[in-house]
Amino acid sequence: MARTAIRARLLDFAADPTHAASAVRDVEDGLLLIENGRILARGDYGPLAGALNETDTVMDYTGCMLMPGFIDAHTHFAQLDVIASAAGGLLDWLARCTYPVEARFADFDVCRDAAGFFLDELAANGTTSACVLGTVHAQSVDALFAEAQARGVRLVAGKCLMDRNCPEPLRDEAAAGVRESWELARRWHGKGRLSYAVTPRFAASSSERQLRLAGELAAARPDLYVLSHLAETEEEVAWVRELFPRARSYLDVYDTVGLVREGSVFAHCIWLDATDRLRLAQTRATAAVCPSANLFLGSGAFDFRAAIDAGMALALGTDIGAGQSLSMLATMRAAHDVARSRGVPLRAAQLFYWATRGAAEALGWHGRVGALESGYEADLVVLDPAATPLLARRAAAARSAEELLFALMILGDDRAVRETFIAGLPSKKRRSAAASKLSDSALRAREIAQRFKGRMQPTPKGEATKR
Ligand code: GUN
Ligand code: ZN
Repeated sequence: MARTAIRARLLDFAADPTHAASAVRDVEDGLLLIENGRILARGDYGPLAGALNETDTVMDYTGCMLMPGFIDAHTHFAQLDVIASAAGGLLDWLARCTYPVEARFADFDVCRDAAGFFLDELAANGTTSACVLGTVHAQSVDALFAEAQARGVRLVAGKCLMDRNCPEPLRDEAAAGVRESWELARRWHGKGRLSYAVTPRFAASSSERQLRLAGELAAARPDLYVLSHLAETEEEVAWVRELFPRARSYLDVYDTVGLVREGSVFAHCIWLDATDRLRLAQTRATAAVCPSANLFLGSGAFDFRAAIDAGMALALGTDIGAGQSLSMLATMRAAHDVARSRGVPLRAAQLFYWATRGAAEALGWHGRVGALESGYEADLVVLDPAATPLLARRAAAARSAEELLFALMILGDDRAVRETFIAGLPSKKRRSAAASKLSDSALRAREIAQRFKGRMQPTPKGEATKR
């Protein structure tokens, strides 16, 4: 049986470093042995290298760190074309920038093209698993799952349920939307590494009836995930209070219909009170903290101290396209900065934990991904601390693994990702192959840019503008 051995500095977490400093596992000159997409053994290079066969392939990443692949706990694959769009705030951004782009996903070719591009970008950023919102169109999730299946990516995804307060082309009907969700779950849930999520977009875009039907689906299928947004901005929270006057809080809107439970992943969770935090902790629902998006839209600063004290399960999300980068390193950096702005100094180990093992455990993947342990699936990222001159200079002065992680998180991005392994297979180079053969969307973008450039060039006096 062909086996792959990776030589590098091995770094992962035995437990949550928030509560145990000794949770960081660091093997400076390590070897990880992989067979059939799973980790067979880990340890010091010396003793393990002696046990290698002649037929084993050894990949030498000496000088790099080998970690569990990153997990993006909340993002939108259909919003890549809206990233970096200036807007007033969440509701203005949804109406003016986001919904018009999502309406294009009525075209299956658009869905397939965006799904492929998105998954290649995840791999380029060292992200091996993600919770992803599609659009209201069921086919957006079909396209995403099909592309993920072809790449062997572990993915949770769902079609958005939204039957009110959105443009007509994006509106579903309460029962029809939930019926489509049932069908998507039947087609895809549990197929290889794919899982379906009941996905009411946010409380404001679903009627009470649709939320109730979504809760019935969740009750009938406790194995499904639930993805949604929760308490992102003050304006949104006030609107939800008007729409659901009987609810105690925004969280209560979901709770009343049975959508708050283990396997529920709520993005943002900024404007909560102590009762909400305790309820999230008690139910083992996960808060997907999306600091880059929160900074971009001016939504508010997640309260890490209160969340940790309440015992909430935490993970990190890029939340593209409100988020500014698909890089989980950039997302950790934003989380650090947001926490710092509230007087909470987060350690690099905590942030890397939330992006790896912490997220895996919150999503029920204990024993499968998130750690470098035998029997785990070989979803891995190789980080290069010498990826840029500045990073190399800073990394050379680092005296501990934690200092190195801190430098990678503050100074790193996709350039620091040397390789990404999905189920033991190197997957980062797909992007360069794809880049040389420009995808449909990239070709379209280039065409638009060229046209725009032509228009911006000054027309010589007296000469007619060529069209
Ligand atoms: N709330 C409802 N929909 C969205 C979305 O697409 N992005 C963000 N950031 N918040 C939302
Ligand atoms: Zn989102």
